[in-house]
Amino acid sequence: MLGFQKRPPIKAAKENTMQNLIQAIPVFPTSQVAAIPSGIIAPQQASPSPLIVRAGEGHYTDQGVYRGYLKLDAHTTDGTFILLDVEADLGKGVPPHVHHLEDETFYIQQGRFQIQIGNHLYEVGPGDTLFAPRNIAHSWYCTGEEPGRLFILVTPGANFEAYMHEMTQGGQAPMNAMQDPEAIAAFMAMTEHYGMTMLPHGIEGTPERGILSKGPFIDLGDHRGHRGVNSNDSRGTLMWLNMDVDFQGGPPPHIHWREDETFIIHKGRFRVLLGEDIVEVGPGDIVFAPRGHAHDWQCISEEGGHALGIITPGENFETFASEMDRQQLMPPTSPGAIEKLLALGDYHGIQMLPPVW
Ligand SMILES: [Fe+2]
Repeated sequence: MLGFQKRPPIKAAKENTMQNLIQAIPVFPTSQVAAIPSGIIAPQQASPSPLIVRAGEGHYTDQGVYRGYLKLDAHTTDGTFILLDVEADLGKGVPPHVHHLEDETFYIQQGRFQIQIGNHLYEVGPGDTLFAPRNIAHSWYCTGEEPGRLFILVTPGANFEAYMHEMTQGGQAPMNAMQDPEAIAAFMAMTEHYGMTMLPHGIEGTPERGILSKGPFIDLGDHRGHRGVNSNDSRGTLMWLNMDVDFQGGPPPHIHWREDETFIIHKGRFRVLLGEDIVEVGPGDIVFAPRGHAHDWQCISEEGGHALGIITPGENFETFASEMDRQQLMPPTSPGAIEKLLALGDYHGIQMLPPVW
């Protein structure tokens, strides 16, 4: 599954680069600065491990009305979430149900979908992100004129992954089972075992609503975008950022000590630092950078790129990113901006590292 390439030699830092400035700033823990060898550190004591899952790779799953890849499983993420990249049959979907144990996020890649969350029916298409919180009834169907494709993120992930596995063994999709008088009772009992309640009489009457999100906006200079899910919606568990990235845009190398980062390339090509390796990635590739592991990314397509960033948990990083935007610290080109960025990162458990390209 891994497709790492060996990194090219790292060039020595020039005068007044971030590396020199880091060493001059007292708020940055000197023990960690001293451990930085020529531009990269990759503390390996953290768990889980970094991973790149290429387009067309993952655990294949066929759920009857949608099929594709479980790109990141609960084992990989230590249970925090699972991420699916699936194609949905036209006119098919998942009938009304409630998850009592997990939240579900939908990102539409292709096609049109009708997604009902609570008492709101959303007609959505490519680029839309929807958040269905736990304990709120929802359903989704692929409509329009072509099969659909979507990312589904489930937080937390292990219980739902076990349900999907049992579904695959049983061989009957919810849409079919709920229409089969001989199967419905057993199917509903099975879903209850996994903390889900199927709703044979529909969603109507459910007071709460889901979240179709396109905002608020975060501008980080050479990359920017709307929050598909913000940490207020997700009770702090998740932030999802849909980003347009300029040619050569991207953050400095860094380590998150409090959160895991999942980076999905949607358009364009990027080079990515992950641990000690630099690899090139493109549309459909997914980079998983768990807490404690050095990482960086930069768009290398002249026409720019589009990428989805998922931060778990979301609250600390969202505050950090909002503050970077408010203080216009990105990209950190002046010594003053670098000093502020290092201090802000230190406060939020985000360790900024010297440039690698
Ligand atoms: Fe990051």
